Amino acid sequence: MKVALSYSGGLDTTVAISWLREKYDAEVITVTVDVGQEDDFEEIRDRALKAGASKHILIDSKKRFAEEFISRCIKANGLYEDAYPLSTALARPLIAEEVVKIALREGVDAIAHGCTGKGNDQIRFDVTFQTLAPDLKIIAPVREWNMSRDQELEYALRKKLPIKIKESKYSIDENLWGRSIEAGELEDPWVEPPEDAFKYVVPVDKAPDKPEELVIGFRSGVPVTLNGEEMDLLTLIQKLNILGGRHGFGIIDHIEDRVVGLKSREVYEAPAALLLIMAHKDLEKMVLSRRLLDFKGIIERRWAELVYAGLWFDPLMDALNSFIDKTQEVVNGEVRIKLYKGSARIIGRRAEKPLYEPELITYTSKSAFDQRAGEGFTKLWGLETKLWHMRRRSENQ
Ligand code: ARG
Repeated sequence: MKVALSYSGGLDTTVAISWLREKYDAEVITVTVDVGQEDDFEEIRDRALKAGASKHILIDSKKRFAEEFISRCIKANGLYEDAYPLSTALARPLIAEEVVKIALREGVDAIAHGCTGKGNDQIRFDVTFQTLAPDLKIIAPVREWNMSRDQELEYALRKKLPIKIKESKYSIDENLWGRSIEAGELEDPWVEPPEDAFKYVVPVDKAPDKPEELVIGFRSGVPVTLNGEEMDLLTLIQKLNILGGRHGFGIIDHIEDRVVGLKSREVYEAPAALLLIMAHKDLEKMVLSRRLLDFKGIIERRWAELVYAGLWFDPLMDALNSFIDKTQEVVNGEVRIKLYKGSARIIGRRAEKPLYEPELITYTSKSAFDQRAGEGFTKLWGLETKLWHMRRRSENQ
């Protein structure tokens, strides 16, 4: 039997190589997809081969991740439960798709991932695998084996698998759009995440004493410039992760509802994602009508839920994206943000086609707004409310 395994180089997937060989006597081809996790990919290749893989393939999907997945998340202001910018969730369908491509090319019998049965990632992998390669068997060693993290560690040590004990303290999933940190002492939702959990975001007391200003420019809802300089989305995100993190900005710590019915304490660092969604949302308020903003909010919620729940390839996703794209035609302009000691504050915005109309809103005598229209308007606006109370007053008399 030949298996293609989606390989991150972490504990779960390293244990999986060994287990697939032991249990199925399988030839294991490991596939690592670079979605911006800044790992040492040479070391990962070595680890895969040392753990028993027959072949290792690395695919660089950073640019594709930025342009085809993250750009959509920005346009959709994608925040699951108003907090999580979906970094892991967004990368899974891309990783799974790349693994499927290799699996089909290599003519394997099965396709595998290292997800546990407790999380969302198994859903994202399984759904994508079965959608894109319905004839391939899916194997999830960690789920099938029902092993805990400690048992995996023990197994890895016993089998002398090349794992990194120190890094295995937390379960980390990293990509361009964010870094998720789980397990260890973070499982107690009362405990503050220790400094060593973070890679980009410095503690606030180590952030610079001087604020720093950023200007982010958008075209059709997608960020295209940083401080006036054009750059591709990949580069822009990489820069913002560093800039935001340096000022202590970008940590999310919340209680999240997993698809499988578990609440979990999730800690993320995602400076670029938070900055870009924040700026994008602000610019939208400048250019989209009230009704459009309100309705888009409903769509955004559904969008985030679908991505979170592994339904990237669902037809509803496509339809929501079409709606969102239509709204983005006018989202052109710039947003100013000030970073300082853990905070990011919007300090200004300008748009190509703003609905903001200075001539109407101004408090000076130059205002073109005809205030006399207000009198009739408020009479009708409050009519029902007034009647409601009138009826009750007459009943009480
Ligand atoms: N809770 C997040 C999600 O469901 C992050 C999962 C991170 N995965 C991991 N293997 N550490 O998208």
